[in-house]
Amino acid sequence: MALIAVIISVCIAFLDTGWATKPTTYHSICKLKKRSADCNGRRLSSVPKDLPAGIEELFLDANVLQTLSNASFIQYHVLQNLSLHANGLELIEPGAFLGIRNLSLLTVSDNFLSLNYSVTASALWTLTYLRKLDLSGNQLTELMMGKLVQHLSSLESLSLARNAILRLDDSHFRNLPNLQRLDLQQNYIFEIEAGAFENMPALQQLNLAYNNIPCIVQFDLIQLQMLNVSNNHIEWFLSAENNASFELETLDLSYNQLLFFPLLPKLNKLQTLLLTHNHMNFYGKFFNNSNSSVQLLFLDGNIINITTQELWEENNHGNFSSLTFLDMSWNEFSYFPDYFFKGLISLLYLNLSHNCLKILNIEDREMLNTLIDLDLSHNLLSKLQMNLGSEGSLTNLRKFNLSTNNLHGLPHQFFIHVRKITTIDISKNPIHICYPYSATSPDCVTFTYANSLRNLLLSGCNLSMLSCHFFKGTSLTYLDLSNNPRLLISGLGTLKDITSSIQVLYLRNTGLSAAGTKMDFSAFQKLVNLDLSGNSLAYFPESLIYLKLYTLDLRMNFYHSLPQYFMEKQLGKSLRVIYLSENPYDCCKMGWWDTLQSHGTLRIGDMTDITCNYSSRFISATNIPESVHHDCRWLTTNMALLYLVLILPTCLTLLFTFIIVFLIYKEKILQMLKSRHKKPSPY
Ligand SMILES: *[C@@H]1O[C@H](CO)[C@@H](O)[C@H](O)[C@H]1NC(C)=O
Ligand SMILES: *[C@@H]1O[C@H](CO)[C@@H](O)[C@H](O)[C@H]1NC(C)=O
Ligand SMILES: *[C@@H]1O[C@H](CO)[C@@H](O)[C@H](O)[C@H]1NC(C)=O
Ligand SMILES: *[C@@H]1O[C@H](CO)[C@@H](O)[C@H](O)[C@H]1NC(C)=O
Ligand SMILES: *[C@@H]1O[C@H](CO)[C@@H](O)[C@H](O)[C@H]1NC(C)=O
Ligand SMILES: *[C@@H]1O[C@H](CO)[C@@H](O)[C@H](O)[C@H]1NC(C)=O
Ligand SMILES: *[C@@H]1O[C@H](CO)[C@@H](O)[C@H](O)[C@H]1NC(C)=O
Ligand SMILES: *[C@@H]1O[C@H](CO)[C@@H](O)[C@H](O)[C@H]1NC(C)=O
Ligand SMILES: *[C@@H]1O[C@H](CO)[C@@H](O)[C@H](O)[C@H]1NC(C)=O
Ligand SMILES: *[C@@H]1O[C@H](CO)[C@@H](O)[C@H](O)[C@H]1NC(C)=O
Ligand SMILES: *[C@@H]1O[C@H](CO)[C@@H](O)[C@H](O)[C@H]1NC(C)=O
Ligand SMILES: *[C@@H]1O[C@H](CO)[C@@H](O)[C@H](O)[C@H]1NC(C)=O
Repeated sequence: MALIAVIISVCIAFLDTGWATKPTTYHSICKLKKRSADCNGRRLSSVPKDLPAGIEELFLDANVLQTLSNASFIQYHVLQNLSLHANGLELIEPGAFLGIRNLSLLTVSDNFLSLNYSVTASALWTLTYLRKLDLSGNQLTELMMGKLVQHLSSLESLSLARNAILRLDDSHFRNLPNLQRLDLQQNYIFEIEAGAFENMPALQQLNLAYNNIPCIVQFDLIQLQMLNVSNNHIEWFLSAENNASFELETLDLSYNQLLFFPLLPKLNKLQTLLLTHNHMNFYGKFFNNSNSSVQLLFLDGNIINITTQELWEENNHGNFSSLTFLDMSWNEFSYFPDYFFKGLISLLYLNLSHNCLKILNIEDREMLNTLIDLDLSHNLLSKLQMNLGSEGSLTNLRKFNLSTNNLHGLPHQFFIHVRKITTIDISKNPIHICYPYSATSPDCVTFTYANSLRNLLLSGCNLSMLSCHFFKGTSLTYLDLSNNPRLLISGLGTLKDITSSIQVLYLRNTGLSAAGTKMDFSAFQKLVNLDLSGNSLAYFPESLIYLKLYTLDLRMNFYHSLPQYFMEKQLGKSLRVIYLSENPYDCCKMGWWDTLQSHGTLRIGDMTDITCNYSSRFISATNIPESVHHDCRWLTTNMALLYLVLILPTCLTLLFTFIIVFLIYKEKILQMLKSRHKKPSPY
């Protein structure tokens, strides 16, 4: 039966000449789609012989093809792309690619081609049209690599990532005149000799990330457009001092040990420069009179070349006129020399976060005027010196991050001159609020002219009780006031002027408490995301049920239970995510919880963290034991009985006392009654 099925499907594969036009056809083993055959993960130990002869693309990834024998592809004349990733492939016989001279793309990553590399090399040499070759993850040394690629003069793209390459010199890459992209990341390269890449005149992209390169000196790859040397141990980056025009557009030096700003080619086309996670600073300010030249010794074979480099001569770092993206975060910059920002005439993104800046001086005319995103977070800034005249600096800024500094305020009239700003993060600064009489003081914050502002972050600023017109003039849509524990003690009055625009509001740990204040959210009609966590709230704010919230955070409050009816109101219809943990819910009043869980469209974001309190024990709300349910039921339904049981003896005692008293004093009482009756009648 199985045999018949195989025969039928093979017949279909041969007879169905129109297979190319159908989206998917099934071969007995492989999936056929257009002119491509997908035989991935089928435990094949040899290349299937019965695929349509017209396939142009063949995937054989994750099979067990240990050896690729002679003439394996002989019937697939028009094959262009072949992938043999992760097969445990050890050997490609010299004639394996017979008949597919036109192969242009070959992927043999994650195999064991180091084992028989010289035989495999002669197989590769037959691929005279090969344009793209992936040899990553094959435990190749530089010697093996050199042999494997040495006659592949048609190659345009070569990956040798994740191999065992230690060093490179001019003997390793020979005769690769068309190579444009070379990936050598994740090797162990510690040395690259001069001329190692000189046989690749067309090289545009070179990736050397994750190696052990200690320095790059005399960088002279003029034609290179992209150089990635991130995640090495580079202490020096020095370009060759010549007047050539470098094509370099992207340079990634992040995650290295640079102490000095790299010495870039004088003439370059650099657009993206990534320098994050190094140890750079400028030093000229500290050493203005001392001799700042160092002598570098270059050892090249037996020749020692001594170059004198002026380190503190800072206006020598190359031409940045085309730079648009500069990331210098996570370094040790404590200041920037005057010329530095002046040269950045096209810059759009600048990241200086996680440095040691105390003062930032951008006072020159029109300085950094193209910049749209400036990140100064995590510094020691206590002062921003800006030029805010008619030809001021930063006039195009949209996003400004000042989080985690030591600022009391923004420069006077900041928002009048930086008129396009939409996002500002001043969180975690000891800011002072401007009061009308102090509005000219530079050390305070006011949003009076911040009409363009939409997103404002003021969390952790130790703010307390702002005036009710603090946000007047803004149209904020996103506001984070979290972690200002005394800010909203007297209610939501401060937010009065933004109720109609605000969409996302973070009020975590802001001193809101329903007991002291009446919280009315009914005017916040555009609100979609509200965070009320960490506020000692015991009552659910009634006004929320008419809002169209999408996300609601009620964590870390004093809720014993939540109302059930809100799920039927507007809130229940719109709400998609709710956070509820860290509240002392009463395990016996969890009716609301069942309703919430059975609500189809609502996701409880912290489901597993929610606990309830049962006789001073915290029990996971998702997993309340039946015994607790039972006890709760007993408690509620039998409460009346309990009262009866408690009250009955008292009542009975009273009744008995009364009867006994009555019996003892029966005579006297009767007499008393009689004597009352013997009242003298008026007749
Ligand atoms: C071969 O692979 C390249 C890159 O993945 C792709 O652009 C091309 O279309 C493929 N050729 C065929 C015939 O499928
Ligand atoms: C190989 O490619 C060349 C041009 O690139 C073409 O003329 C020739 O017909 C192709 N050979 C096969 C067998 O497809
Ligand atoms: C494979 O072909 C090559 C020549 O292309 C030949 O030297 C070699 O002996 C063949 N190997 C086998 C196992 O047939
Ligand atoms: C391939 O390499 C293995 C182990 O290095 C060796 O035993 C075997 O003889 C080699 N095969 C050929 C064809 O060279
Ligand atoms: C450099 O290579 C690393 C590692 O592959 C990668 O994460 C990074 O994005 C690359 N840099 C650029 C600019 O492409
Ligand atoms: C570069 O050009 C300048 C003037 O054009 C010249 O003074 C200098 O010597 C040149 N430098 C080199 C290394 O060629
Ligand atoms: C450097 O020079 C400036 C003035 O030009 C001076 O204020 C400063 O103290 C000098 N620093 C050192 C380390 O000499
Ligand atoms: C600094 O020292 C070097 C060598 O000691 C000397 O060649 C150079 O002229 C000195 N430079 C200055 C500015 O004193
Ligand atoms: C030594 O330096 C000179 C001039 O700076 C340069 O022309 C020469 O190529 C260098 N030699 C080596 C081996 O780097
Ligand atoms: C920087 O390069 C640009 C063109 O790439 C050129 O117009 C400009 O004059 C150069 N600036 C300096 C200071 O060399
Ligand atoms: C620095 O800021 C830019 C945006 O200006 C961002 O893309 C980049 O990821 C940031 N770098 C780090 C290390 O956070
Ligand atoms: C500002 O930077 C801090 C830390 O560098 C980051 O956590 C925060 O998300 C940034 N703010 C904005 C609005 O991007």
